[in-house]
Amino acid sequence: MPALSPVIAPSILSADFARLGEEVTNVLAAGADWIHFDVMDNHYVPNLTIGPLVLQAIRPIVKAPIDVHLMVEPVDRMIEMFTEAGADVVTFHPEATPHVDRSLDLIAKKGAKPGLVLNPATPLSMLDWVMDRVEVILLMSVNPGFGGQSFLPHVLEKARRVRERIEASGRAIRLEIDGGVKVDNISEIAAAGVDTFVAGSAIFGKPDYAGVVRAMRAEIARGRGDTVAI
Ligand code: DX5
Ligand code: ZN
Repeated sequence: MPALSPVIAPSILSADFARLGEEVTNVLAAGADWIHFDVMDNHYVPNLTIGPLVLQAIRPIVKAPIDVHLMVEPVDRMIEMFTEAGADVVTFHPEATPHVDRSLDLIAKKGAKPGLVLNPATPLSMLDWVMDRVEVILLMSVNPGFGGQSFLPHVLEKARRVRERIEASGRAIRLEIDGGVKVDNISEIAAAGVDTFVAGSAIFGKPDYAGVVRAMRAEIARGRGDTVAI
């Protein structure tokens, strides 16, 4: 199966919330592909972030896909609210819902692309009976809850194994990674088979978004072994 084009998805968790509209506009103008939208409920994770009203507020100014990462428990009611607010991709943690199948089906029924998120210690067996239905597999490379943590290197091996499963499925499933992704590790992450890269503090923490996105793209191409015109 041909490799999917790389996607850079800045996480607005590290954006300046006092200027959120401007921040998402600027990061997309800087060349980012998706907006990653982290939803935390102070229950599934020990932090509290943003709800569907915020998604609704930025939706008209964001032409790019919005990737909603639900760190909430339970998930189904939030799936309804965020798909109605305009999410394009919705991912959730399988241990946070009693019926994984039903939650995946609900996302698809509401017109968004469904995906599962695996924490660093969550086994790949979670994927056993859903490979025909997921559009995205998101591997956490930090424990969820906070931006600015360090990348856990064992997740590279996990990514290689998920890549094998995706190839075996014959489906164009995106392999996404989230947590501690930086310019200086993104090439080895790409080499492990990841095609969709969430980055919060590496982009929003920096003065030159376009410079970081450009450097990330060059490093991703290097990791994939692509030849690029400079
Ligand atoms: C962590 C969130 C991430 C976070 C990544 O629970 O899911 O999306 O914003 O932030 P960085 O890139 O700073 O690790
Ligand atoms: Zn996230």
